[in-house]
Amino acid sequence: MARRRQIYEGKAKILYEGPEPGTLIQYFKDDATAFNAQKKGTISGKGVLNNRISEHIFTLLGGIGIPTHFLRRLNMREQLIRQVEIVPIEVVVRNVVAGSLSKRIGVEEGQQLPRTIIEYYYKDDALGDPMVSDEHILCFGWASQEELHDMADMAIRVNDYLSGLFAGIGIRLVDFKLEFGRIWENEFSRVILADEISPDGCRLWDMASGEKLDKDRFRRDLGGEVEAYQEVARRLGLLPEDGDTPVLDLDSHRKLRGK
Ligand code: TMP
Repeated sequence: MARRRQIYEGKAKILYEGPEPGTLIQYFKDDATAFNAQKKGTISGKGVLNNRISEHIFTLLGGIGIPTHFLRRLNMREQLIRQVEIVPIEVVVRNVVAGSLSKRIGVEEGQQLPRTIIEYYYKDDALGDPMVSDEHILCFGWASQEELHDMADMAIRVNDYLSGLFAGIGIRLVDFKLEFGRIWENEFSRVILADEISPDGCRLWDMASGEKLDKDRFRRDLGGEVEAYQEVARRLGLLPEDGDTPVLDLDSHRKLRGK
């Protein structure tokens, strides 16, 4: 079989040319980075879990009318996605003070915010993804007024839905990061949800114990990264209750055996 053409390699994922025009294959690596890749490591099995968790969440969001790039899972580490032009803005949604917000304003982590905050960061590794305002985004043309409005609107809907979903499984959705991409239909474009939603880009705290079930375990050298990601997958119903084998193995095996 001819080697697939690699389109892009990021810190946690690789994009390959897809089987049809307008599609790509998104491969989830086990690599983990933090602090703009100053800290590097691997979390063995993370890619498999994030592929499955992101598929699950994007499918649910699609079901409430949020357009996403997700098309279908291909195997344990890969999913077929729509090719988009990534908007160079990371949209961060915060419900609780944590991370960089805690540092910036000097408020202890864990304080519930009286209203949800949306922040924008300009995607530029060389600059360390600086925080920017909507004024900068419009002024420098990184997104249009309409796109900004659509992204903020979807971010709030995603937050409302996911806050409830996670609360239902005993997890507090503290904050998370979204990325959006443009798709073109004739001469018109619109933005859809892209990238991934997984414990790599969310803060997820167990409601009872406060335990961190996300990438802060890696960022802060807490250990137990895979166990935390597995716990999230298990509570979402994606792992057998008493095991650690992703359910996806079962159906890819079933397909292989032609059943
Ligand atoms: P922060 O508190 O470090 O700004 O992070 C806010 C949220 O965004 C947190 O859930 C982690 C996520 N995030 C990413 O997914 N990628 C990044 O590069 C950064 C800085 C944060």
